[in-house]
Amino acid sequence: MDRNQLTEEESSRRVNIMGLLLNCAVFLLVVIVCSGWQDDGNYDGRLSDSDPISLWPLPQKIQISAVAFKLSASSFQISHAKESSAGPGCNLLQNAFRRYFEYMFGSVKNEAKPRKKVFSSELTELQVWITSADPECDGYPSLKSDESYELSVDQPSAVLKASNVWGALRGLETFSQLVYEDDYGVNIINKTSIVDFPRFAHRGILLDTSRHYLPLRVILANLEAMAMNKYNVFHWHIVDDPSFPYFSRTFPELSQKGAFHPYTHVYTPADVKMVIEFARMRGIRVIPEFDTPGHTQSWGKGQKDLLTPCYSGSSPSGTFGPVNPILNTTYEFMGRFFKEVSTMFPDAYVHLGGDEVDFSCWKSNPDIQKFMEEHGFGHDYSKLESYYIQRLLDIVSSTNKGYMIWQEVFDNGVKLRLDTQIHVWKGSKDQYETEMARVTGAGFHALLSTPWYLNRISYGQDWHGIYTADPHSFNGTEEQKKLVIGGEACLWGEYVDATNLTPRLWPRASAVAERLWSDKDVKDIGNAYGRLAQHRCRMVQRGIPAEPLFVGYCRHEYKGL
Ligand SMILES: *[C@@H]1O[C@H](CO)[C@@H](O)[C@H](O)[C@H]1NC(C)=O
Ligand SMILES: *[C@@H]1O[C@H](CO)[C@@H](O)[C@H](O)[C@H]1NC(C)=O
Ligand SMILES: *[C@@H]1O[C@H](CO)[C@@H](O)[C@H](O)[C@H]1NC(C)=O
Repeated sequence: MDRNQLTEEESSRRVNIMGLLLNCAVFLLVVIVCSGWQDDGNYDGRLSDSDPISLWPLPQKIQISAVAFKLSASSFQISHAKESSAGPGCNLLQNAFRRYFEYMFGSVKNEAKPRKKVFSSELTELQVWITSADPECDGYPSLKSDESYELSVDQPSAVLKASNVWGALRGLETFSQLVYEDDYGVNIINKTSIVDFPRFAHRGILLDTSRHYLPLRVILANLEAMAMNKYNVFHWHIVDDPSFPYFSRTFPELSQKGAFHPYTHVYTPADVKMVIEFARMRGIRVIPEFDTPGHTQSWGKGQKDLLTPCYSGSSPSGTFGPVNPILNTTYEFMGRFFKEVSTMFPDAYVHLGGDEVDFSCWKSNPDIQKFMEEHGFGHDYSKLESYYIQRLLDIVSSTNKGYMIWQEVFDNGVKLRLDTQIHVWKGSKDQYETEMARVTGAGFHALLSTPWYLNRISYGQDWHGIYTADPHSFNGTEEQKKLVIGGEACLWGEYVDATNLTPRLWPRASAVAERLWSDKDVKDIGNAYGRLAQHRCRMVQRGIPAEPLFVGYCRHEYKGL
């Protein structure tokens, strides 16, 4: 990513021009409150189209005044408030301070330069104040993490207050978004006060590393972009039919035989750890998905007898179907495999898939037919699927993990723990709304993906439909609505690899990000367009090749090639 190089040139230019601006300070002291609190507490989100401030996703409550301060790389610093429970020993924050300083000023090589004279209209400090006794510097984010923060930008010092590091990360992003360049290239920030918190606790992106292998740098770049959009879950659909890139210590044959290539197209334990730590530093959970009993062709290459042999008439056809649910060895394997997974991935949840199980192979197999009879399943193969899933859920429960599953598992009537998260992905708008109502009506947590299959593309500004979909748009009680934990944008990998992943996902996934973070009433497409176009340019400036929304230009065009 070239953002460092890019902004270095600029910051030196800025320093030269700053002299010209000395006299502007007085002029900036006029206070006009352009946008304020409304009585019901909802902000209508209107920054005028020409306003250079573009916040994305829009904070819950925001007050911006026309008092503006300069910021300069040579005098500005981000520091720990003296009341804060976190200090320089908090690596997560130190790392974030550096990251956001660079986003705002570029990497400043010449820090040895004498400090510039500080002007009265200049803001020289952002103090970060962690208020709870445990700042969670070394922890992992979770579904219950408090991501709220309060930001006050004023002299003598801006203050960012959060109960722990997760809120501080979100607030640092917002602070960096408040900074804009004036016509002379000088960094400006307006006097501002913000109170912010997410509308939904689970805001995820699914990437698929089975249909195409994604190099680590692409995954890491997307974690960066996710943080810029306040996403907090990376749903890693790590294996599927086409390939098995997860290197398992317990069963190394799985990737040796099931990956596209056993050395170049695998994720080693060190790779996985790196992704998890990089994500943690940005307040992002990593939830792996190991989808069974369908979508498992690649598992069969490295694990003998795991898949069901299909029959053609009375003899095996040589092809294989879903995981074989009638063998004890299957469950022994799953027990050992998920034990490893549970130690490799620290998150409290694992996604167990369970979607699109094709029954034809099971139907063809005489041993399965016999098992069906013995268990009184008749010809209802969804009962067999439920039998398998039930046993799998017991195995995973015993590793102390919670689970997420695709909606079919619920539809088939599998008995589920009440803390199970049901992932809704199927159908038309009416169908998914009905499903959300059914899932929450049964008392389960739900999350929505149906309108957010971002691998589906079409000509034009398809982010409109993405933006207007809402996980709460179904008929249900307040209690039911509370069971909706959020949603995920999915980018399935059939037609996506390192060449096109990032521009296909961004800024379209930004539309989902605002839906999941901001107030439900923030939904004006026209207002969103202006902010999103600028937010997209900001991602471009930070080195993320996010595609354009429509005609126009960025002040700092993409220089990644
Ligand atoms: C920010 O400050 C500038 C300079 O005073 C002013 O022109 C602009 O309207 C302010 N922006 C907002 C959103 O208040
Ligand atoms: C499978 O395990 C069950 C329960 O432990 C046992 O009763 C059964 O005999 C086993 N089946 C085989 C084929 O080993
Ligand atoms: C929700 O209720 C309204 C009014 O009763 C009805 O028109 C609509 O079809 C319902 N939506 C769904 C998805 O059931």
